[in-house]
Amino acid sequence: MLIHFRDKMEIGKPEMNIGLDRIYAAESRICKIDGENGRLYYRGYPIDVLAERSNFEEVSYLLVYGKLPSIEELSRFRKELREERNLSSGTINMISQMSKRNAHPMHILSATVASIASEDVDINDRSDGAELRRSVKLIAKMASIVATIGRYIGGEEYQAPDPELPHAANFLYMLTGKSPDSFQAKIIDLMFMLQAEHSTNASTFAALVTSSTLADMYMSISSGINALSGVLHGGADEAALKMMKSIGKPENANEYIENALASKQKIMGFGHRVYKAYDPRAKILRKYMEELEGHSNPDSKTLTEIALEIERIMAAKKLGEAKGIWPNIDFFTGPVYTAVGMPGYLFTPVFAASRISGWCAHIIEYRKNNRLIRPLEYYSGEIGIEYVPIEKR
Ligand code: ACO
Repeated sequence: MLIHFRDKMEIGKPEMNIGLDRIYAAESRICKIDGENGRLYYRGYPIDVLAERSNFEEVSYLLVYGKLPSIEELSRFRKELREERNLSSGTINMISQMSKRNAHPMHILSATVASIASEDVDINDRSDGAELRRSVKLIAKMASIVATIGRYIGGEEYQAPDPELPHAANFLYMLTGKSPDSFQAKIIDLMFMLQAEHSTNASTFAALVTSSTLADMYMSISSGINALSGVLHGGADEAALKMMKSIGKPENANEYIENALASKQKIMGFGHRVYKAYDPRAKILRKYMEELEGHSNPDSKTLTEIALEIERIMAAKKLGEAKGIWPNIDFFTGPVYTAVGMPGYLFTPVFAASRISGWCAHIIEYRKNNRLIRPLEYYSGEIGIEYVPIEKR
């Protein structure tokens, strides 16, 4: 049981909950994670059904508006997204001014998203209508910004969007300058859907903490991006790819895992705070990875073999049964993204461009009954220490 401090009355050391593990901080109707059984629902719809039958635009509408759209609603939503795809010359210049040698694309993404607030003519309008318009703008522009950052790092000029293409296919077009084939477009659309939402994970919570101070949506989304970048969260996708590349071939996997576990190092792409069963998103992605044959390139094939070998070794150690450590969604992204030519440094930015729908949905929902998020910490230092002048210390 948690002990609360009330009226400045301290009742001894409270039960601590480091990492807010198993703490309910909000009530929501957006997402349900059934961690014990490895199930995930967006607004009540199972993720495997959405992944099979829906698309990113429809899933985004579902998350933000709270219901599946009619034909007319989806068509209007798609039109609004297309109208917001283009980036201003100010945004394109801002991206190209940042050092690609020192900054990770996530730094550039975070700064750029915060900067597009300067183009919002009704920035102080916080009505539901304005926040929904802002969500559409952010969902559309995040993909364009990530594509433009990718081109900038590759030394290419801005590629204007193609209004004829759906969201995921247009993202690939803006990244590569070529219209993607249906397989490539399907993979990106799938990834966008699988990563669109995941309740109050660290990045969504970070976005909510910022939003709860009544900071605007751009600042809040920027906070979400920052939190997503770490390797314990969204950054694990790029870290898992680096791990697989450093392993090099399946025969080396056993030695790597043994050494890592012996030195208490985390295996990237394994484990989850809430799932104690197999992450359903990883299950879907694993299936796609195994079906890549024929579309794949040699790098992706090698990564697939390494991934399957790591998974086999971890399963043999019974870490799933003992500690609930199974592959999470970030584990299989390397082989899958490599099959469509996505560079590792864009994995987490693409994750952010997917999660934007969930972040917006949560910000809008929490605002309805906003309360400043402000947990306590237990101070275990000394108090009342005499101040000694610097020359006498
Ligand atoms: N590899 C090896 N051991 C692990 C792993 C892992 N990936 N994850 C957890 N463990 C072990 C810990 O060493 C610890 O063991 P111990 O009890 O013997 O000390 C135990 O499992 C509990 O680990 P915690 O880190 O306390 O569990 P937590 O709930 O905080 O972990 C986390 C969740 C941070 C995701 C963790 O599993 C991890 O670091 N995984 C690797 C990074 C990763 O893949 N992150 C992506 C998560 S999905 C997402 O954010 C999109």
